[in-house]
Amino acid sequence: MPIYLDNNATTALDPRVLEAMQPYLIGPYGNPSSVHRYGRAARDAIEAARVQVASLAGAQASELSWTSGATESNNFALKGFAAAHKPGRLLYAATEHPAVMEAAESLRSSGWLVEVIAVCEDGRIDWPRFEAQLASGPVQLAAVMVANNETGVIQDIARVAAGVHAAGGVLLADAVQAAGKLELAPYWTHADLMSLSAHKIYGPKGVGALLVKSHVELAPLLHGGGQERGLRGGTENVAGIVGFGVAAELARAELAQRDTQMRALREQLEAGLRTIEGVRIFGEGAPRLPNTVQFAIPGWEGEALLMALDRQGIAVSSGSACASGTGEPSHVLLGMGYSRPIAFGAIRASFGRGNSAAEVERLLGALHGFGAERPAA
Ligand SMILES: Cc1ncc(COP(=O)(O)O)c(C=O)c1O
Repeated sequence: MPIYLDNNATTALDPRVLEAMQPYLIGPYGNPSSVHRYGRAARDAIEAARVQVASLAGAQASELSWTSGATESNNFALKGFAAAHKPGRLLYAATEHPAVMEAAESLRSSGWLVEVIAVCEDGRIDWPRFEAQLASGPVQLAAVMVANNETGVIQDIARVAAGVHAAGGVLLADAVQAAGKLELAPYWTHADLMSLSAHKIYGPKGVGALLVKSHVELAPLLHGGGQERGLRGGTENVAGIVGFGVAAELARAELAQRDTQMRALREQLEAGLRTIEGVRIFGEGAPRLPNTVQFAIPGWEGEALLMALDRQGIAVSSGSACASGTGEPSHVLLGMGYSRPIAFGAIRASFGRGNSAAEVERLLGALHGFGAERPAA
């Protein structure tokens, strides 16, 4: 049986989510903007889902806008903010997802002063440098993710938000990887904007959300039929949104149980990895997601190890799924100060609700087996 250990890239659709979506693919097919009964049935379904997804973060339904996924949510937050305000200073952490980094970088051409927030070797914000950066002048916008997709490292969002607010700015917290693994409400209390994506929590691909506090002004990226209070035109992905709602509801109900199960697998893997000489676990020492282990084994390139594991039916990732295949090492590890050769060695295993201790044993067995074949480092 193949083993899937790449749940930070995407998760399997939960059968309970599929069951909830099915009627909206084959049954009530109205356009939610139509006023007749078909339209009203679709509208009711997306409004019920709005409450479910907002509740995952302890947010109000009125604070949530649907998107096509977190890439759009991050672009909407940054570019939508930029379009509604005069250019100023925009800060983002060195370990952000490309959907934040590249959206932020694109704003240089419209006059924004874009700066990177440095992180330490364990992946957490480098506080003395960040505080000096904040003290050097007003900030309009900052983006710091709750938890990193590669290392699982969790940032102190309360402290980041306090600094950004004191400098006059608002904070986007990308919570895509934290959702379903951490309680989000304590993070939403402090952030002003938050991105979420359904397919990381056993929901469908191609649907996401942006949470926006009422004091934050955004301009729409997509103009059209006035959907989402004029913030995001386009007929809603009704079945996808219904699926996101149920996935969020399940994530909330099963958070503690999933945490216990994934944490045990992570500890089992890390204990096994530590018996391999010279192994490095990235972000060790920092608080990390219960399901994520990014590591490197001396003498192995991440990409080669990934292929060798794939031949044994074990799916892991080298760096982020979006960056793999580019031939570039992980910007996250470079940002944490690792050299290119070390960053090239990185492999990530990310657990989900379907994984078992026996699967971790198989991964460890495979890694130990490769040890014998390994060229001298
Ligand atoms: C932290 C983070 N932000 C944003 C995204 C993009 O999400 P989506 O696939 O919904 O566009 C991802 C997906 O890998 C992610 O891990």
